Amino acid sequence: MNDRRGALQEYLLRTQPRTVDRGRMVVVERELTRAMRGGVAGAVVEFGCYQGGMTAWMRAVLDALGVDPAVHAYDSFRGLPAVGRHDSAYLAEGEFTASVGDVLRLHERFGLRRPHVHAGLFAHTLPEQLPTRIAFAYVDGDRYESTMQCLRAVLPRLAPGAILVLDDYADPAASLPGRAVAQPKAPGVMKACEDVFGTPLAVTSVCEDPTWALGVYRHAVPPTVSAATVGPKTAR
Ligand SMILES: C[S@@+](CC[C@H](N)C(=O)[O-])C[C@H]1O[C@@H](n2cnc3c(N)ncnc32)[C@H](O)[C@@H]1O
Repeated sequence: MNDRRGALQEYLLRTQPRTVDRGRMVVVERELTRAMRGGVAGAVVEFGCYQGGMTAWMRAVLDALGVDPAVHAYDSFRGLPAVGRHDSAYLAEGEFTASVGDVLRLHERFGLRRPHVHAGLFAHTLPEQLPTRIAFAYVDGDRYESTMQCLRAVLPRLAPGAILVLDDYADPAASLPGRAVAQPKAPGVMKACEDVFGTPLAVTSVCEDPTWALGVYRHAVPPTVSAATVGPKTAR
């Protein structure tokens, strides 16, 4: 890891430990690298960027890979919306309030290119301000309705081979073999995935820590029709 990325990692672990920990960084780096090395074209987006910790981490990973897709970050900057019927009250309304300035200053501090920041509720920004082709998305809205809005907006725009990482997807401590159990802090995230993807659920849970698991969804690459599949032409 280069000095700048290492310094960013240490800074985030020290200043944003509730939202960006080592395990999350490992998973995001691995999945983002997989999408970029796989040549998936499109923007990198984050839904629920808060102070921009993961946005900056994604830019640092992209820089290390030597690729330069546009990075778009979305947030109301008013913290979490009210608890809905599929959410738990563990995370209160208004938690995680930040500002556009926080996101930009963090990038400047580490010499990282600024992301495109879209301030406003997802319901207002996503219909008009989402790139048409998306290679990678980090979905971190914590609530059922917020996650639903992101999934509905992003799925039709995913490039073949694109990857979604869903924060707070599952609780590994409570999970049974073969069946992930929703994260009690944010049960609406898994419920939204179940409602959007149906069964069998196309999201797998990826755990780097006993207290949380991220969800990963890999968008299918359509099979190419090769000459071998079509078979030889028959002579008339
Ligand atoms: C846990 S924080 C995100 C942490 C961030 N991804 C990180 O890694 O540092 C969740 C964020 O989602 C935002 N959010 C949740 N629902 C939203 C909605 N419907 N529209 C806009 N922002 C929303 C909140 O404002 C909050 O900043």
